[in-house]
Amino acid sequence: MTSKTKSSIERMRKHIEEFPRLLASHPIEDEILKKCRLASKKGIDGICLLGMGGSSIANQYVIALLRERARIPLLLVQDYTLPGCVTKNYAVIAVSYSGNTEETLAAFSEATCKGCDVFSVTSGGKLAELHSVKSKIPVNIPPRAALPLLLGKVLPMTETLCGLPASNLIPLEAKLESYRKDWKSSSVTIKEFADYIPLFIGAETMAPVAYRAKCQINENAKREAFFSQLPEANHNELEGFSKDAKCRLRPVMLRSNHERMEIGKRMNATKDILDDLGYDCIVLRAPKGATQLGEMMALTHYLDMISLILAERNDIDPMTVPKIERLKGRLE
Ligand code: F6R
Repeated sequence: MTSKTKSSIERMRKHIEEFPRLLASHPIEDEILKKCRLASKKGIDGICLLGMGGSSIANQYVIALLRERARIPLLLVQDYTLPGCVTKNYAVIAVSYSGNTEETLAAFSEATCKGCDVFSVTSGGKLAELHSVKSKIPVNIPPRAALPLLLGKVLPMTETLCGLPASNLIPLEAKLESYRKDWKSSSVTIKEFADYIPLFIGAETMAPVAYRAKCQINENAKREAFFSQLPEANHNELEGFSKDAKCRLRPVMLRSNHERMEIGKRMNATKDILDDLGYDCIVLRAPKGATQLGEMMALTHYLDMISLILAERNDIDPMTVPKIERLKGRLE
C-alpha cells in the first residue's frame, strides 16, 4: 500500500469515527429556525429538498423520517428542474456540500425566479454567494462524510418548516458510541462482505440507509454495490434472482424494529425465497430500543465503516473519486 493510500484511509477513518460527534457539533442557527418558523406560520404548500449525491442523502433521510408526520408534501429533487407543481408558496432547501453542483444550482435558480422561500446548506462555492437563508458547514470534508453535519441542519429546518418540533440530536452521540462497542461482538464480519457484490435491501426508514450503504461502497471502496427497496422490489426484482448469481451477489437486508408488520412479513418471505435459491443473505437488525433516527444513524455508521474496511483490504484510496471528478471535468 502506498503512503498516500494509507494516509487517505486514515483520513476517512477519522471522518467516519467522528460521525457521532458531528451530528450535533454544528447545530442549526437560532435565527434560521426563526425564519423557518415564520415561513411555516405564514403557510407553505410544500417543501422541496434539492441536492445530488452525498448531499442528497441527508434529504432522503429527512423525507423518510417525516413522511408520515408532515402535513405538507416533501419533494426530493435530484435534477436540474423543479416539478411543475412547485409554486412561490413552496419552501426550497438547496443542499450542496461544495455549493458548486450544477443540477442543484439550476433548480435553486428556478426556485428563486419563482419567488419561493429559499434556504441553503453548504460549505461555500457559488451557492454561498446566492441570496437565501444560509446555513454554513465546515470545509474540507468529502460530501459523503459530511452526512451528519448536513442532517443536523436539514432535519430541524424541515421539521420547523412543517410546524413540527425540532429533533434533539445531542443524545445520539453517546448512543452511537455505545452501539459502536456492540459491533465488536457482532456476528457479521467483514469476510461476509468481501468477495461479494452486496445488494442492500431496505424498506421505509431503512430504504435510504440501504441506498447510502450502496453509495458508500461505490465511492469509498470503488466496488459494485446495489440497492433495492421493498415492497416495490417484491413486484419485479424478486423474479430476476437466479441460482447463477448466488456466488457473486450477497443480499444484505436492513431491518428496523419499527417496521410495519407487512414489511416484516415481506422481508422474511423474500429471505426464504432467496435462501431456497442458495443465496447467503445477511440480515442486519437495528439496535433494540433505538428511535427511528437512532436506528438509521446506527446502521449508517456501521456500514460506513464496512465501506472503509473494504477499501483498506483492497488498497483503495477512499478519499478521492477520480471517475466522478473526470465526469464533472468533461461537463465544464
Ligand atoms: C460524495 C460525492 C458526491 C457529491 C455530489 C454532489 O462524497 O463526492 O456524491 O456529493 O457529486 O456534490 P455536492 O455534495 O458538493 O453538491
